[in-house]
Amino acid sequence: MVKSSKYKMAGGNGLFFPILGFASIVAFMYLSFGDLFSVNYKNEISLSFVGRNGSNFVVDDKLFYINGWNSYWFMDHAVHDHTRPRIRAMLQAAAKMGLTVCRTWAFNDGDYNALQISPGQFDERVFKALDFVIAEAREVGIRLLLSLVNNLDAYGGKTRYVKWAWSEGVGLSSSNDSFFYDPSIRIYFKNYVKVPSNSF
Ligand SMILES: *[C@@H]1O[C@H](CO)[C@@H](O)[C@H](O)[C@H]1NC(C)=O
Ligand SMILES: *[C@@H]1O[C@H](CO)[C@@H](O)[C@H](O)[C@H]1NC(C)=O
Repeated sequence: MVKSSKYKMAGGNGLFFPILGFASIVAFMYLSFGDLFSVNYKNEISLSFVGRNGSNFVVDDKLFYINGWNSYWFMDHAVHDHTRPRIRAMLQAAAKMGLTVCRTWAFNDGDYNALQISPGQFDERVFKALDFVIAEAREVGIRLLLSLVNNLDAYGGKTRYVKWAWSEGVGLSSSNDSFFYDPSIRIYFKNYVKVPSNSF
């Protein structure tokens, strides 16, 4: 009798804690991403990709002159609530000045708020931040030039790839230029490039 009631209690708790745990995860995800999901876009402008005809850039068969700037930090700042509004402020200011193209980072290799945590491992949270940046830019009609790696050390870049290959024992050389010729690193980078390219 005692045994059986104990068993029932244990059974009850066994169900209660997973439900509580699941509810906490849902609540956590809602608090983390809820505001991203709730952004409403009025314009939903459709922007075609910029193409090339000879030595000219073209959009929809018309000449396109780039008037651009660099805000490498958009994705990083889009990760957290308190810094996210800076992206819209910057894009709106730029649009008012007649700028048309922004170069920004679509990579962050193993650094703070990394998109690619380690080779082939991505942080979904940071992908959502990148989606947010793209949606915000479209809203004001600004095109993005998305960089996929850095020659400098900031945000990971080629040095990080060399370190990854070296620490996994597959790197041919510790030279930072081995990014360009090491077959293992080329595979890392090709695998990386597929992920953001396929999601746009
Ligand atoms: C490319 O430019 C040439 C010369 O200006 C023009 O004749 C041609 O129609 C253009 N092609 C496209 C696809 O825009
Ligand atoms: C690669 O670059 C990093 C950062 O600039 C530097 O600390 C390191 O010494 C370089 N490695 C080699 C082998 O030159």
